[in-house]
Formats: sequence, structure tokens, C-alpha cells
Amino acid sequence: MKRLLLTTSIVFALFLICSQTARAQRPKPNYDEAKVPQFTLPDPLLTSDGKQVDSAELWWKVRRPEILRLFENEVYGKSPAAPNNMLFEVTSQKNDALNGKAIRKEVSIYFTGKKEEPRMDLLIYLPAKATKPVPVFMGLNFYGNHTIADDPEITLSTKWMRANQEKGVVNNRATEKSRGTSASRWPVEQIIDRGYGLVAIYCGDIDPDYDDGFQNGVHALFNKDGKSKPAADEWGTIAAWAWGLSRAMDYLETDPQIDHKHVAVMGHSRLGKTSLWAGAQDQRFALVISNDSGCGGAALSRRRFGETLNVINNAFPHWFCDNFNKYIDKEDELPVDQHMLVALVAPRPVYVASAQEDQWADPRGEFLSVLYAEPVYKLLGTSGFGAKEMPDVNQPIKQRMGYHIRTGKHDVTDFDWRQYLDFADQHFQGS
Ligand code: GCU
Repeated sequence: MKRLLLTTSIVFALFLICSQTARAQRPKPNYDEAKVPQFTLPDPLLTSDGKQVDSAELWWKVRRPEILRLFENEVYGKSPAAPNNMLFEVTSQKNDALNGKAIRKEVSIYFTGKKEEPRMDLLIYLPAKATKPVPVFMGLNFYGNHTIADDPEITLSTKWMRANQEKGVVNNRATEKSRGTSASRWPVEQIIDRGYGLVAIYCGDIDPDYDDGFQNGVHALFNKDGKSKPAADEWGTIAAWAWGLSRAMDYLETDPQIDHKHVAVMGHSRLGKTSLWAGAQDQRFALVISNDSGCGGAALSRRRFGETLNVINNAFPHWFCDNFNKYIDKEDELPVDQHMLVALVAPRPVYVASAQEDQWADPRGEFLSVLYAEPVYKLLGTSGFGAKEMPDVNQPIKQRMGYHIRTGKHDVTDFDWRQYLDFADQHFQGS
């Protein structure tokens, strides 16, 4: 008994020492603009062998593929091609959801040609009165499709979720209390009233958001012979989520009620990093939105303001590919920075949003990524961004590239959605 007590206390003491060291090692975030280091950004319009990219042809043939490879190899990791035997199954359909305003359907996607896990479930709302295929917003969510609307007919996810009492998650599983708990982030009725559809997917269907050495989720389906996890330049979790969005797009292309040429991919925070990477790789996404995506998303890594590569790679080792660790505290050695991720979306419309109280995500760094991606948009003949300075709060800029910083905290609000809907109107109507 005594020995057990002694062992327990030693283990506890060790735990305390370890967690305190971990805390002590975690660098203090910088929130002081004056302490942002001097840096030089890689030029999106200069090839690796020093040639100036002065034509659209050179961009498409040389520089764009080069930048894409660099993000694949050094940041997010390479993803596999689409499987050729996916199965799509419509599992529910109601033509008078939302008091008759919407068609609501659920579609399951199986990746292997067999009805086996992992399975990705799409929740789709479409305006009931539409007479032709409708443009849609597509987005991943954090806690299951049943959280985006308080509707008892939406299938309750049975998948693993991160612990969260407020979201009614018990033992890492959703409960009836979870329904509608993220509804403030998904104004379904407003989206339908504006003539758009919405496609929602739980990110954990593709890869659960914890570091398990890639044993679950879609990674395990694609491990190369004899390997039990992806190589240092192969996909992490963000890349897997982005891959899932592309697989959902594969389904949308087969759905005659959806205008798959007008799909806006939208994501918040870690899922905003994901929407950017999905839009960068897959040009079928006609419009790309990043909401408060921060470090590893829209924010420039070299600024080291708020969250840094050191913090993000240690706190979320599964998000990026292993090679990204090489740049911890060595941001200047990165061959890319996040403005080049935005540039990969060109010439398609891109919108980056920040929040004033979300300094962790570095609003100024998010703005600068848009600004420094503009030369690529200009080269490709679009109106670009048109702003040189950060706008005042709640004063959106909407050219081919859009940006706002709104009052409030890290979140998705009605203000954000109003801008996205207006931006989509601006670019989708008449095109
Ligand atoms: C953490 C993380 C961010 C991320 C955010 C989120 O704050 O540090 O990088 O964007 O979680 O996804 O909510």
C-alpha cells in the first residue's frame, strides 16, 4: 500500500514538473507590432531559378506548380488522388424542411467502393423554390452536422468528438443536447433566402482532430506498403480535411440540383486554414473564404505575431506534415509564406476575414497576405484588391479579393456571413 502511494506521488510529481516545463517552454506570444521582426517575403512572381514571372503563361506553367509543390512538401503534405470507386448514397430527403423553404438531404460518401468506415456524411440544404441548379456554400464544422441547425431530423453524429460540455459532448460523443449548438455560425435560413444552398460536413468524419499517429480517419486507407503513417512530406490532418472537401465536390458534380461551377468553400479557424488549402489545390472551388484562419492559414508566418510555428506545431502536431517542423523558430528559411497560399487561389475570388479581438490569429498578418498576393491577381487580369492599408473595423473591401476586420472575437457571425453572401452575389451573378 505504502509503495503504491509512493509510486503515485512520484508519478504525480513528475507530471507536475513535466507540465510546468512544457508551459515554461511555450514561448510567450508577441502582440506588440514594434517587436515584429524585419523580414523579406519570398516573391510569388519570381521562379526558383530567378526568372521574373511576367506573363500568365509563366505563372500557370512554371511558378504556380512550383509554389503548390512547396506547400505540399513543406507545409501541409501531399494528398493522394481521388479514389476511383467512391460510393454516394442519399440517406434522407425532405422537400419541405425549414417551414417549406428548403430541401434538406443527407448524403453518405464511402471512399473504398464498399460500405465501410471511414464514411463522410453531407448535410445539404437547398432553396425549395429553385427552378435551376443552385450555387452553394460548402464548409466543414467542428462538432457534427446536427450542431448547425436545431432540427431533430438531422442524423446525430455517432463519431468521436473533442470534449466540450457546452456542445453537449459526453465521453467524446454527441448527445441530443448537441443539436443546434453551433447554429449561430450557420445562418441556414438567411443563406436559403439569398438563393444559395449549404453543404455541411463534420471534419471528424474525414479525420478525428487528435494526434493518434494517423491510425484512424482516411489516412489509414492510403498508407504506402509496409508504412503505418504518412512520410514527412505526406498529408497531415488539414490536408486530409481539404481532401475530404474535394471528395464532397466530386459528389456535388453528380447532383443535378447543385450548380457545381459556383461552389464557395468556407471555413473558420483550423477549418479556414483548410478551406484555403482546399481552394488552392482544387480549382473547381469557384470562391474561397477564410474566416479567422490565422497561423498556417491566412496569416504570414514570418511576422511571428500571436500564434507561431513553434506553438502550432507543438500544440497540434498532426495538423501539418512533419517537414513543417523544420521551420520552427526558423520562419525565414521557409521557401513560401502564406500570401503565396492566397495567390494559388488566383484569379478566383478570395475573401479573408479577421476579428479585432482575435489577435492570436494576427489580423494584420491576414490582411498582408491578401495585399502581397495581389500582384498575381493583377498579372492574371483581375481587379485585384485595390487597398494598400488595412481598412477600419467593419469596413469590408470587396474587389476580386476581399477582406474585413470586424469588431468582436474569434467566431463566425452574421456580419461575416452578410459579407460572404454579398461577395458571392458580386462574383456569381451573371457568371
Ligand atoms: C487554436 C489554434 C489555432 C486555430 C484555433 C481553432 O487556437 O491555436 O491555430 O485556428 O485553435 O481552430 O479554433
